[in-house]
Amino acid sequence: MSENAKLSLPDGQSLELPVLTGTKNEKAIDISNLRKQTGYITLDPGFVNTGSCESAITFLDGEQGILQFRGYPIEQLAAKSTFLEVAYLLIHGELPNKLQQQSFVDRVSWHAMIHEDMRHFFDGFSQNAHPMVILSSMISSLSAYYVEASGKASIENLELNSARLIAKVTTIAAFAYKKSVGQPFVYPRDELSYCANFLNMMFAVPAESYELDPEIERTLELLLILHADHEQNCSASTVRVVGSSMANVYASVASGILALWGPLHGGANQQVVQMLQQIHDDKAGISKYIEMAKNPKSDFRLMGFGHRVYKNFDPRASILKDACDRLLNKLGTNDPLLEIALKLEETALSDDYFIERKLYPTLDFYTGIIYRAIGIPINMFTVMFALGRVPGWIAQWKEMHEDPKQKIARPRQLFTGQTERSYKPMDDRL
Ligand code: SDX
Repeated sequence: MSENAKLSLPDGQSLELPVLTGTKNEKAIDISNLRKQTGYITLDPGFVNTGSCESAITFLDGEQGILQFRGYPIEQLAAKSTFLEVAYLLIHGELPNKLQQQSFVDRVSWHAMIHEDMRHFFDGFSQNAHPMVILSSMISSLSAYYVEASGKASIENLELNSARLIAKVTTIAAFAYKKSVGQPFVYPRDELSYCANFLNMMFAVPAESYELDPEIERTLELLLILHADHEQNCSASTVRVVGSSMANVYASVASGILALWGPLHGGANQQVVQMLQQIHDDKAGISKYIEMAKNPKSDFRLMGFGHRVYKNFDPRASILKDACDRLLNKLGTNDPLLEIALKLEETALSDDYFIERKLYPTLDFYTGIIYRAIGIPINMFTVMFALGRVPGWIAQWKEMHEDPKQKIARPRQLFTGQTERSYKPMDDRL
């Protein structure tokens, strides 16, 4: 039974707008004909209340702290699945059978090498170039090497381009790290698992091979699963917007990487550890920083706290907090920043400012401490987020192109500038 919303406007117009109902009974008012019928637009800075699409990939319930990929609860996928299986699920909509899984894993392994000419790109980056800018440049440069990358072709060859992106992002990330530490590149090895291969490319050196710790491999698998998608977040929306102009999938994902880099989005994981380190070095105690975060005159924010959608615990943060404890105990690591993080969380969660605004720790609050324990340097933290998010970006891009209602993203505006005026010669200007 279709429902309508009634809208009456100051100029006497009134109309009924269709109301759409989602799988979990969320409601949306369809305003796609509003301007044509009334001349009015809506205004919603940051799209806080505005949906850009219908999607079947990821479901979030921010009030209940629920996250599901294609209907599967994140807690079950975190406990039972692998990153490449979750990648397949996000992109194809179903868990793979044995044959599908094996051929996907083999395909990703096979595509892990980058064109040998691309090695020389790294010579052009300064040694302290942030790896996120290297990652984005290299990912967009991949489209210079593949005929299947042009707009329409990249849609028809998405299987191939997905395997290339999911595979090569690890190689490019590891090469960016090796460049920053002046060590030789370590090439991918087909016989290693996705996570083991990445860790080997990151930490093996010609003088000795990297002794893989299964606990670290499993923790990395978990981290990538938890980051794999998150519905219409800033970077996923960027990938959709860029892709909506028929730009190819490499250009769209490269744009998503740059959006993710922002400190309010994926860059927060690096900011959290920098904040914890600042609190640790300051010795003034955490209450000084809690007060700074609450002070409207201060631009200091408790990084890793607060989320546009989660107004309850981020389920990923709860899973990561346990994984953090487990890994640090297994490695026998005692990270003072973890103690500060736990104290910060406990204090903030009992403070009215944070309670009233429903500010809880998000996944970024713990990831940096885990990356430190694995030996990943702080400026690679957001790169790690990107590694996990690539399958989600691909799934969103694919769904956008398969949507019959899809058109180029081109928002309207409310003009508040100057009325028409004539050109003023230089001598007449103040
Ligand atoms: C990610 O969208 C996604 O799904 C993203 C993500 C994903 O998986 O893709 O989950 C990953 O980006 C997680 C978020 C990481 N960012 C941070 O940790 C940065 C710190 N958090 C914030 O800056 C903030 O919470 C945002 C940006 C995440 C959300 O901001 P909103 O929804 O626009 O809310 P807001 O900025 O309007 O804040 C509402 C109030 C304000 O106070 P008042 O003006 O009402 O008095 O809460 C305050 C804010 O000042 N506030 C904070 C705060 N976050 C919000 N105050 C102190 N510390 C904070 N961290």
